[in-house]
Amino acid sequence: MSGEWSVLEVVRWTTTYLQEKGVDNPRLDAELLVGSALHKDRVGLYLSYDQPLEQSELDTIRALVKRRALREPLQYILGYTEFWSLPFRVGPEVLIPRADTEVLVEEGLKVLEQREGTVLDVGTGSGAIAVALAHTAGVRVHAVDISPTALEIARANAATNEVGELVTFAPADLHALNGGGYRMVVSNPPYVTWAQMCELMPEVKQHEPELALNGGEDGLGAYRSLARQADSLLEPEGWLLVEVGVDQADAVGDIFKSAGLQQCFQRRDYAGIVRVVGGQALGDYSDVQENADEKLNG
Ligand SMILES: C[S@@+](CC[C@H](N)C(=O)[O-])C[C@H]1O[C@@H](n2cnc3c(N)ncnc32)[C@H](O)[C@@H]1O
Repeated sequence: MSGEWSVLEVVRWTTTYLQEKGVDNPRLDAELLVGSALHKDRVGLYLSYDQPLEQSELDTIRALVKRRALREPLQYILGYTEFWSLPFRVGPEVLIPRADTEVLVEEGLKVLEQREGTVLDVGTGSGAIAVALAHTAGVRVHAVDISPTALEIARANAATNEVGELVTFAPADLHALNGGGYRMVVSNPPYVTWAQMCELMPEVKQHEPELALNGGEDGLGAYRSLARQADSLLEPEGWLLVEVGVDQADAVGDIFKSAGLQQCFQRRDYAGIVRVVGGQALGDYSDVQENADEKLNG
């Protein structure tokens, strides 16, 4: 790219180039990359299609396009994405939150509508689920992750979305969690199997953190650990809600039932794939029973 180029010519050139590199939606990506370099949204870009570009602007665009051609995700290049219609800062330290995960937030909100309480978000990454729940339901969320760099980004996202007072962050390993009395534990844990790890798109395999994806040989290790700890983490009748990968729902449902969780249910995403599995802790009713006995005995 050198000489006299208009905005439209650069958008067209970039589209063709990204298409040749195997990028999905090359026109949209071209518009967003050129717009980012010129500090314009898409409408602003359309309005300046005839504008000639300075050499310095072409240099900036070239650098961004080169990154996308190497299949770096658009969201990492732009430095942000949207989840639950809220802005989230993202970088290679965190998984890019997916629209599919919004059904986990929807199910979580249903649980909180029945009765409010504190939520534990395990493997918070960018903080997407924790921030969305706190922002919508005004609940307290304790968010944990094993990655300190992810926690830094999640903290920044909570502050940007004005829920820094409601969401607390701490390092923790999902296989050895502490605490109890949570109304709900939510998690979108790493669940990609070893075999699937080899088949991921370059954007995911080469750029998103392996720690966020790799779920071990069968992809189910995190679910086993969460189900095993559910009773001690949850208040009586509290809920464990998890996101699952394609075709994992029945296996995760079996893990939940074997761990003693009740009322197990599944929820499909908007593409028709079962995406959420939930189960309720039976809990310890001894306090409730003692109070009831006291009332009966006057
Ligand atoms: C699939 S990502 C989910 C991120 C975010 N909750 C979302 O839905 O976009 C899984 C997250 O779990 C974290 N993680 C991986 N292993 C963990 C472990 N043993 N203990 C706690 N967090 C872990 C990763 O760092 C990553 O942030």
